[in-house]
Amino acid sequence: MPKPRPFLPHILLSLIIANAGADDVPLPPQEPTPAAASFPGEWQLLHASIGVSAMHMQLLPGDFVLMFDRTDTGPSNISLPALAPCAAAADGPADCTAHSVLLDLRSNVLHPYPLATNPWCSSGALLPNGTLLQTGGFSNGDRVARLFSPATGWVELPSALAARRWYATDMILPDGRVLVLGGRRQFNFEFFPHDAAAPAAALTFFPFLDETTELDTEDNLYPFLHLLPDGTVFVFANDRAVVFDPYNRAPLRRLPAVPGGVPRNYPSSGSSVLLPLRPDAPAHAEVLVCGGAPRGAYRLALRNGTFVPADRTCARIAPTDMDPAWAVEEMPMARVMGDMVLLPTGDVLIVNGAAAGTAGWELGREPVTRPVLYRPDAQLGARFEALAPSATPRMYHSSAALDTYGRVLVGGSNPHVGYVFTNVTYPTELSLEAFLPPYMDARLDGARPRVMAAPAEVGYGEASAVRFEVPGHVAGGAEAAAGEVRVAAVAPAFATHSFGMNQRVVELAVGRVAQLDVGVYEAEVAAPPTPGVAPPGYYLWFVVHAGVPSSAAWVRMRPLGPAT
Ligand SMILES: *[C@@H]1O[C@H](CO)[C@@H](O)[C@H](O)[C@H]1NC(C)=O
Ligand SMILES: *[C@@H]1O[C@H](CO)[C@@H](O)[C@H](O)[C@H]1NC(C)=O
Ligand SMILES: *[C@@H]1O[C@H](CO)[C@@H](O)[C@H](O)[C@H]1NC(C)=O
Ligand SMILES: *[C@@H]1O[C@H](CO)[C@@H](O)[C@H](O)[C@H]1NC(C)=O
Repeated sequence: MPKPRPFLPHILLSLIIANAGADDVPLPPQEPTPAAASFPGEWQLLHASIGVSAMHMQLLPGDFVLMFDRTDTGPSNISLPALAPCAAAADGPADCTAHSVLLDLRSNVLHPYPLATNPWCSSGALLPNGTLLQTGGFSNGDRVARLFSPATGWVELPSALAARRWYATDMILPDGRVLVLGGRRQFNFEFFPHDAAAPAAALTFFPFLDETTELDTEDNLYPFLHLLPDGTVFVFANDRAVVFDPYNRAPLRRLPAVPGGVPRNYPSSGSSVLLPLRPDAPAHAEVLVCGGAPRGAYRLALRNGTFVPADRTCARIAPTDMDPAWAVEEMPMARVMGDMVLLPTGDVLIVNGAAAGTAGWELGREPVTRPVLYRPDAQLGARFEALAPSATPRMYHSSAALDTYGRVLVGGSNPHVGYVFTNVTYPTELSLEAFLPPYMDARLDGARPRVMAAPAEVGYGEASAVRFEVPGHVAGGAEAAAGEVRVAAVAPAFATHSFGMNQRVVELAVGRVAQLDVGVYEAEVAAPPTPGVAPPGYYLWFVVHAGVPSSAAWVRMRPLGPAT
C-alpha cells in the first residue's frame, strides 16, 4: 500500500483575489476519473483513546471536532482541566472526568470540556454564526439547549425546549432558525429560537411521527430530515417519507413507501443523505436511504436473542419530481447502523455498523468493517465499491464525519450501558480513526489541488473566485490543467446514531478558469443561489481537480437580510 502522505496545512485567506488580467484557459476536456479501484482507501489511527466514546461528532469552523457522549455512565477516560468544577458531572455518580472533548485537527491535540447536563442521544445543528446548537438529551438534559464554541465551551440554555428531545433530529432552515423535530414519544416539532411573540405556539403536532411509530420497537426515531431547494423539508421515518413546510406555506405531500417495507430509522437504523445539489438543475434534489433492519428485528434481538440479517438495499428518490418513485439498489453487503458520509467528489461513503441485529444496547452482531463507496452518477449496477476494512468494529453509538482534509473521521462504538473494556464481544471504543478515501491515493498527489485563497464569506448568487495550485503542474501548465475543475461546498454534519444531520454538498457553478502562474489557477465560481439550496452558515469549499479534492477552506454563506 502506498505511504500516507503528510497533510498540508490548509490555507484560509479572507480575501477575494482580484483577477489581475489573467490568461484565459478554456475549460479543459474531461479526463477519465482516476482509477480509484486501485487504492481501496486506508485507515489511520489518530488517537488510541480520545477519553470518551464518540457518540456525537461535529466538525466546527477552525478545524475543530467536537465529540461527546453522556454524563450518567460514570467516569470517562479523560480528566477535566484542573480548575474545572467536578460538580459538573450532572445526574450520574459524581466524577471529575470530561464527557466531551474537542480535537484540534491541525495539532491533533485534545481538549476536554465540562458538560453540566446530560446530552445523551441528542441532536444538533451548526448555527449561521458558527456556534453549534445542541438540543436535548436525557433526564436533567432533555429540555436543555446548549451552545458550543471552542472559545466559550458549553453554554446551557435551561428549559429552552418546549418538549423533551431524546432521539430527535435538528435541521437548519433557510432563515437560519433550526427545526427540532420528533424524539421519543414526541410527535411534534419546534423551532430554535422560538417565536418570542407566540410562545404558546411553540409546539406543532406532526401526525406523521404518530403514524410511523411501531408498538414496542418505534422504528421512526432520529427521523431523516433534508432541506429541499424550495425550502420545504423531506422527512423519512420508518419506511416512508413526506415533504412538508414547517411554516405552513405549502400543503404536506406524501411520497410512496419504499418497496419492501423495511424500517430504516432507530432502532432499525439505516442512514440517509441528500445527494449533491447541482448548479445546472438547482430545483432538483435526490435522497438516498441505505440499510436498516427488517420489521420486528429489534424485538427478536431483545426478547429472543435472535439477530436477523440486516437489510441490503438502498432506495433513491427525487422528491422534487412531479411523480416521485423509489428506485431500489443492492449494496455489496447488508448493513444496519451504517453512517453515510458525503464526500467532496459527490460520492457517498457508507461506513460502520453491523450485518445482523439492530441499534440498542447489546443488540448488534457481525460488524461490517468494510466501507462501501456509492457513486451516484455511475451506471446502475456499477455504483458500489467495497473498500479497505478497518480492524475495529464500530457498532451502536459510533459516528463518522468528513473533515477539512477530505478524510472521514470514525469514532465511538459503545453498545453497553456503561463503558466496558473487557469480557464483552464488542468492547467500548475510545479510539478515533481517519479513513482515507480512494481519492487520497498518494499517486494522485500530482493532480491534487491546494487552495491558496478563497473568500471568507459570500452572499447568495454572488460571483466569487477560488485560487489554487496544482503541484504537479511544473511546466506547460495550461495543458496540464486538463481535467475538470469543480468546486463543492460541503456543510459539516452533526453525526450521531448513523445519521449526519445537516450534511449537504452543494456544487458551485464554475465559470472561467484562468492560469495566473505556473501551476497556479483561479476559478470563477458563483455562490449558491438561494438559502433553500444552501442554508446560511459555514461550508467547506473543496476544489476538485480531475476527481481529486483539495483540503477545504471555510467559507461562510451570509444570511439574507440585514448583515449580521
Ligand atoms: C479506561 O479506563 C478504565 C478504568 O480506569 C481502564 O480499565 C481502561 O483500560 C481504560 N481504557 C482505555 C482505552 O484507555
Ligand atoms: C450565535 O448565535 C446564537 C443564536 O442566535 C447566539 O445565542 C450566540 O450568542 C451567537 N454566538 C456568537 C459567538 O455570536
Ligand atoms: C425465538 O427463539 C427460539 C429459540 O430460543 C427459536 O426457536 C424461535 O424460532 C425464535 N423465534 C423467531 C421468530 O425467530
Ligand atoms: C465474563 O462474562 C461472563 C458472561 O457474561 C460472566 O459469567 C463472567 O463472570 C465474566 N467474567 C468476568 C471476569 O467478569
